[in-house]
Amino acid sequence: MSRSPDPHLPEPHSIRRHLVLIGFMAAGKSVVGRSYAARAGLPFVDTDELVVERHGSIADLFTARGERYFREVEARTVAAALESPVPAVISLGGGAVLDSGTQQLLAGTTVVFLDTDLATVLPRISRSGHRPMLAPDPVRRWQELATARRPVYESLADITIDTRGLTVPAIIDRLTSVLTKGED
Ligand code: S3P
Repeated sequence: MSRSPDPHLPEPHSIRRHLVLIGFMAAGKSVVGRSYAARAGLPFVDTDELVVERHGSIADLFTARGERYFREVEARTVAAALESPVPAVISLGGGAVLDSGTQQLLAGTTVVFLDTDLATVLPRISRSGHRPMLAPDPVRRWQELATARRPVYESLADITIDTRGLTVPAIIDRLTSVLTKGED
């Protein structure tokens, strides 16, 4: 049985089209997105999961076809999700927002940047064999990518949530409060 929407969460119509979660690898975009969508009674779309469903594991795709091919597949998958008329909570892979077409499609959606730091993601990225962008040295690579991508995330975000030290329910409470009362 599906859960009823939480009455304290904003009505779906108060979300400008889609609510899109962006940010660093292992920031919790999928976990937060899925949980927020369930509580808000909205569909949830994880674009990495769609890629895996259609093309097999991301690590295998990188090995067989390379990053460039993955980015093409990713951009098409993200575009299809963002162009859907059904409002949804959509979680994007950490590198998806580097695509200029994706950046254009994000206009008119509510973009949420889940900010975090290395200390917070460290336990997750240390066992991140499925993230080829972090090979061969997950800590160094995460830091490099985070430094390069932070300005992009910041420039696209309508809302930034500092998730450091917050549990998933606390992140959702924070997001809800920003969406309903405009607190940031
Ligand atoms: C990537 C992030 C991954 C996945 C792919 C590439 C990136 O998603 O899309 O491994 O370039 O940052 P998560 O951000 O969910 O780890």
